[in-house]
Amino acid sequence: MSRTLAQSIVQHRATKPVLFVAALIPATLLTIGVVAHTLGPNPAETLIRSLGDWTLRFLCLTLAVTPLRQWSGLQALARLRRMLGLFTAFYAALHFSAYAVFDMGLVWPDIVRDVAKRPFILVGSAALLLLLPLAATSFNRAIRWLGPARWQRLHRAVYAVALLAILHFFWMRAGKRNFGEVAVYGAIVALLLGWRLLRATRGARYFMKLGSHSAKG
Ligand code: HEM
Repeated sequence: MSRTLAQSIVQHRATKPVLFVAALIPATLLTIGVVAHTLGPNPAETLIRSLGDWTLRFLCLTLAVTPLRQWSGLQALARLRRMLGLFTAFYAALHFSAYAVFDMGLVWPDIVRDVAKRPFILVGSAALLLLLPLAATSFNRAIRWLGPARWQRLHRAVYAVALLAILHFFWMRAGKRNFGEVAVYGAIVALLLGWRLLRATRGARYFMKLGSHSAKG
């Protein structure tokens, strides 16, 4: 695909509505599954796990926007990032709600006890608690209110969310020693965060070189 074609697809006014509808498909299919009783012998487990998977997938898609934009030069990709981030928070909230309702019967003292007792639940809760303020401040008015520098610093917490999400997944699968999918998602997150680290250190080295040149001059 030529770059101009890719650019016009990303910039097209239908792209955002299409992405919005596409992002709702997993939630719609799972809702239909609950209502029609087609989620298998353990519907609560299927629902909670599928929503967890979709949270992680949307998190990876959100983190992929900047590296893809920098690598391809398609600046317009940035306009999709906020929606992907909000869908990450949406699926995380559904994942937690399904756990709270179907696993814990919405008994809050039991939920608090479970968070304290099971490390993978504690780590998942930490990821969710970090994610919610990012979703709440993803609007232009919040950027103006916080100022761009503070907003950017706050939104770096998404990297901690990604690391906690992988740890949550790893810990959950550790009991069954089933690490195949964890390794795939771990590699994707490592690649997406590694790209940023590499660019940041390269940038820092460039500025250091610039500094030493101007000191000599
Ligand atoms: C950003 C936040 C979170 C992400 C990305 C996430 C992701 C995941 C993933 C990928 C799975 C595994 C699904 C599978 O086996 O295919 C999972 C399972 C699970 N998560 Fe989360 N999660 C998050 C937050 C939470 C929170 C806040 C809770 C509850 C307080 C929670 C409770 C669970 C439970 C109960 C399971 C299933 C365990 C089982 O079936 O044995 N997660 N999560």
